[in-house]
Amino acid sequence: MLDLTNIRATLADHYDLTPSPELAASMSETYDRMNRVVPPSDWAIYAPYVKAINSLKAERNAVILGHNYMTPEIFHGVSDFVGDSLQLAIKATEVDADVIVQCGVHFMAETSKILSPEKTVLMPDMEAGCSLAESITAEGVDEMRRRYPGAPVVSYVNTTAEVKAASDICCTSSNAAQIVAAQESHTVIMTPDQYLAQNVAKDVPQKNVVWWEGSCIVHEQYSPQDLRDFREWNPGTRLIAHPECPPDVVAEADFSGSTSGILKYVTEEKPEKALLITECSMASNIADSLPEVEFVGPCNMCPYMKKITLEKVLWVLHTMDNQVEVDPTVAAKARLSVQRMIDLSRQLGI
Ligand code: 13P
Ligand code: SF4
Repeated sequence: MLDLTNIRATLADHYDLTPSPELAASMSETYDRMNRVVPPSDWAIYAPYVKAINSLKAERNAVILGHNYMTPEIFHGVSDFVGDSLQLAIKATEVDADVIVQCGVHFMAETSKILSPEKTVLMPDMEAGCSLAESITAEGVDEMRRRYPGAPVVSYVNTTAEVKAASDICCTSSNAAQIVAAQESHTVIMTPDQYLAQNVAKDVPQKNVVWWEGSCIVHEQYSPQDLRDFREWNPGTRLIAHPECPPDVVAEADFSGSTSGILKYVTEEKPEKALLITECSMASNIADSLPEVEFVGPCNMCPYMKKITLEKVLWVLHTMDNQVEVDPTVAAKARLSVQRMIDLSRQLGI
């Protein structure tokens, strides 16, 4: 557990982090990317952190990779690249930097380290995990192989390096159906998200998809009745669900896609009202670039993603603590699974 009192004392010794309406006003260009969702009083608190992080990034030759579920002040204020899991994994292979600060959850930082072992990868909070990554170990993958001999294992990137190393290929929610369809075998094992697997099984009926019983604690909370009720009380709202939701929830939605798929859909369709059936920050982060769309609630918070704060980002950049390490033998095997996914995605034009 991070010692926040100690972190605050260290930061106070080195940076002026006093809330400042004047500084906030001088950084209006950055604020304009989030002013629909971040009140001016909050921006006055965030602005000194954003300034300090951005200048320290330049000093350290660091880049920040920010997932779509980061809070708006991290997403718009300090991230150099933002996107879904696939886009961030690809970016980790492309960025010319000595240091990557992963603003996302631990498996994303491990993926960056696996793909860029020569770079220092920093995690603002090592306890930012993921219920899916925690649901399976490499032994679980072996157990599935024993149950379905000869079937390839397609593991979601939301897994540990050991699980990736034990798998044949990875997938994300933006390429899962295509990766499964591209396997030669009729039976394909998907781990660890049972709901993503069931959604893929519907989209790829030519395959016998079998799955591990993991789930995302954010997306499993939705029920099809929630969506039916919402539609009845809010006619005309477009319902858009992440494929980590159970299939009966996805069936009630107008569209389902990864976080970047959701952004693309809303940008192209520009519905008058949209309900994003996913993590809360998704709508907040795209609200300012889509003023014509009204984003309506409810949403669910990911407690792991929300462990990442500006304060912790500044602290890891200052101390260079929380470096993510992956055993080189495990990393070499895991890299094969992730690289196969990236190569196949490129080949399929995803
Ligand atoms: P995306 O790849 O769609 O960004 O999803 C990652 C994730 O953890 C969703 O819960
Ligand atoms: Fe994991 Fe779900 Fe949080 Fe994504 S939203 S990081 S899948 S727990």
